[in-house]
Amino acid sequence: MACLRLLLLLAFVLLFASSDAQRRESNISLGSFLTPQDQNSSWLSNSGLYAFGFYKQGDGFSVGIFMAGIPQKTVVWTANRDSPPVTRDATLQFTSEGRLVLRSTTGEEQYIGVQDRPASSASMLNSSNLVLYSSNGMRIWESFNYPTDTLLPSQYLRAENMLVSSASESDHSSGLFCLRMQSDGNLVQYPAKPLSTLTTSDAYYASGTNGRGDNMSLVFDAGIYLYLLNSTGVNIMNITDRQYLIEDGVYLMRIDVDGIFRLYSYSRRHSNSTWSIKWSSSNDKCSPKGLCGFNMYCIRNDQGTDCKCLPGFDFAIKGNWSSGCERNFVADTCTDERSSLDYNIEELPNTSWENYPYSTLQVQEKEGCKQACSDDCNCEAEIYTEGECRKQRLPLQYGRRSLDDSNVALIKWKRNFYAYKKINLSCQDVELMGDEVSLRSFTYEELEKMTDGFKEEIGKESFGTVYKGTILNSQKEVAVKKLDIVLKEGEREFQNEMKAIGRTHHKNLVRLLGYCYEGANRLLVYEYMSNGSLADTLFKPENKPCWEERLGIACGIARGILYLHEECATQIIHCDIKPQNILIDEYRRAKISDFGLAKLLKPDQTKTYTGIRGTRGSYAAERI
Ligand SMILES: *[C@@H]1O[C@H](CO)[C@@H](O)[C@H](O)[C@H]1NC(C)=O
Ligand SMILES: *[C@@H]1O[C@H](CO)[C@@H](O)[C@H](O)[C@H]1NC(C)=O
Ligand SMILES: *[C@@H]1O[C@H](CO)[C@@H](O)[C@H](O)[C@H]1NC(C)=O
Ligand SMILES: *[C@@H]1O[C@H](CO)[C@@H](O)[C@H](O)[C@H]1NC(C)=O
Ligand SMILES: *[C@@H]1O[C@H](CO)[C@@H](O)[C@H](O)[C@H]1NC(C)=O
Ligand SMILES: *[C@@H]1O[C@H](CO)[C@@H](O)[C@H](O)[C@H]1NC(C)=O
Ligand SMILES: *[C@@H]1O[C@H](CO)[C@@H](O)[C@H](O)[C@H]1NC(C)=O
Ligand SMILES: *[C@@H]1O[C@H](CO)[C@@H](O)[C@H](O)[C@H]1NC(C)=O
Ligand SMILES: *[C@@H]1O[C@H](CO)[C@@H](O)[C@H](O)[C@H]1NC(C)=O
Ligand SMILES: *[C@@H]1O[C@H](CO)[C@@H](O)[C@H](O)[C@H]1NC(C)=O
Ligand SMILES: *[C@@H]1O[C@H](CO)[C@@H](O)[C@H](O)[C@H]1NC(C)=O
Repeated sequence: MACLRLLLLLAFVLLFASSDAQRRESNISLGSFLTPQDQNSSWLSNSGLYAFGFYKQGDGFSVGIFMAGIPQKTVVWTANRDSPPVTRDATLQFTSEGRLVLRSTTGEEQYIGVQDRPASSASMLNSSNLVLYSSNGMRIWESFNYPTDTLLPSQYLRAENMLVSSASESDHSSGLFCLRMQSDGNLVQYPAKPLSTLTTSDAYYASGTNGRGDNMSLVFDAGIYLYLLNSTGVNIMNITDRQYLIEDGVYLMRIDVDGIFRLYSYSRRHSNSTWSIKWSSSNDKCSPKGLCGFNMYCIRNDQGTDCKCLPGFDFAIKGNWSSGCERNFVADTCTDERSSLDYNIEELPNTSWENYPYSTLQVQEKEGCKQACSDDCNCEAEIYTEGECRKQRLPLQYGRRSLDDSNVALIKWKRNFYAYKKINLSCQDVELMGDEVSLRSFTYEELEKMTDGFKEEIGKESFGTVYKGTILNSQKEVAVKKLDIVLKEGEREFQNEMKAIGRTHHKNLVRLLGYCYEGANRLLVYEYMSNGSLADTLFKPENKPCWEERLGIACGIARGILYLHEECATQIIHCDIKPQNILIDEYRRAKISDFGLAKLLKPDQTKTYTGIRGTRGSYAAERI
């Protein structure tokens, strides 16, 4: 499994012309050029292992250095990495004036290496270093001095230089993390933010060699180990614990997409080889700071890591860890009299973050800490450990959970979930937010856009057809239900009914976000449930939930019905409980959908539906 993941990690499957067909000519002659798609898409090193030229990235091509000699074609350097990939008509030329120029069809030119000093020759060396020489044979530029995310054997990371991770396995533009060889002699890993904004609390790895001499370099020794070299050439400290030379090996060191610095080796003895990790700067995948955005915490799981929102928070952009989380309720201002009563303090064991508290107090117990936050309207969260209570304000940074952590995080959030959800529907929303509910009235045209012309059908239900859609400015996924039966209600009644449904807030109910009432069109917009319906879960053998999950689902449905019948402001009778109407969210929580609609139907339709569904509903309940 680990091997397979590693293979995926490193297998930048690229479309290349067969490189063996090319002449192994390390010197690049003046006037020669490459194009992405014919035989000459790259210049090979003498050994045939490394190539400089075009490689496939996304829908286009980038220029860089990759391991042409192994099947994975692993990319080790990218020229102008943050420029967008070029199209297949681009050319890369070592001009007769001695400049390396990448030309796109639109006439744009990018220089690789130096623009102001012409070179008289260029060479792709066996070490993977691309070098430009002056007429007297002096090196005027070399790619080894401008690393991206990777170091190769015999390469130095010199003082004030850094490696920056890639955005993703397939996108080599700059990502989230960096490894800096600081001028003070310390080798440090940070989030990839401007140096002026970084402090020691942003660091998540440090060699601790500051003060041991200026202008130190990190050396990836050809003997396959890493050490720090001072400016008079003395090894100050070995970073890796030993040498990792293997027979027929190729190697690289890279700050990976996940922020961890790793040494990889690959044996060319077997055709079925894969890259294997020999050394890592950390074994804790939650250690890189900035993996999770604001108001999140990192947890380790079987897949590696996950970033979760704090209680009372939702993703700012769904699924995007960097975007962080925002409160899903509107907090009262401190001048508001009734504030503290509505709040709840949720505990997160073994969780902490990096921020400085605005106030620290000594308390007897955790309860005292909770009380202190409840009584202080400025307090938004706190950390409790051993009699000490640290009060915090938002946003919280670098949150993580780890079983070795004795801190307990306490998060204040609104108990009363009648509070409106803050969903970025569109600018027009704001007016509707003033009402008790944040329901939005959509035009038919908007819904057509959101669903890309009702393209992706995700279900056919008793009241109509459901399509997948996306709210354009927030990228939030929604389910749009097109009602295809005759409704008895006029517009006012319809809106009142929608508001009654919209006022329901319960974790076991699918949330209605908005509706459309236009001409003959009646559409409802719901939150999107990624995991389908209970019917999919029950009736497909591969998904069968275990007993514990069944019990959880059954209790969830019961809680949802109880709420509809007894707790919400307007009593709602569902009349159509069946597995197709119970949706499953990403936490495998049951959510009732389609509630409140029965009332909108003509009386005879209601009867028919109730009659049939009653039997099937109880049948399905037995299956649970
Ligand atoms: C390649 O270029 C280098 C530096 O200009 C030169 O010393 C060497 O002789 C050249 N090799 C070939 C095979 O032309
Ligand atoms: C590829 O480059 C070699 C050497 O530079 C040249 O002899 C050959 O004609 C080129 N082939 C193509 C298809 O351009
Ligand atoms: C590069 O590698 C090839 C094959 O391994 C070898 O024949 C050649 O001598 C090497 N070139 C240099 C300059 O070491
Ligand atoms: C490099 O380290 C050696 C041995 O510790 C020391 O003698 C020398 O002064 C150091 N060089 C610099 C520039 O600090
Ligand atoms: C460190 O390098 C900088 C720039 O190369 C140089 O100006 C400075 O004198 C060097 N310091 C030492 C102690 O070698
Ligand atoms: C670093 O490791 C090398 C090779 O394993 C060893 O020869 C050397 O003594 C070590 N140096 C230090 C400073 O620990
Ligand atoms: C790779 O192939 C060799 C024989 O060539 C075999 O012994 C080895 O088990 C294979 N390894 C994997 C991971 O398939
Ligand atoms: C995720 O959010 C960040 C910050 O808000 C943004 O810069 C980035 O482009 C987003 N990524 C994706 C894939 O949407
Ligand atoms: C982590 O949390 C659990 C549950 O609250 C607790 O029993 C355990 O002691 C905590 N770990 C540490 C190191 O405090
Ligand atoms: C939400 O909408 C507001 C105003 O329209 C905008 O300033 C903000 O950037 C949006 N946030 C997200 C996460 O889209
Ligand atoms: C959906 O449910 C399956 C099991 O049926 C589970 O493995 C998967 O993680 C769930 N997907 C999401 C997005 O939660």
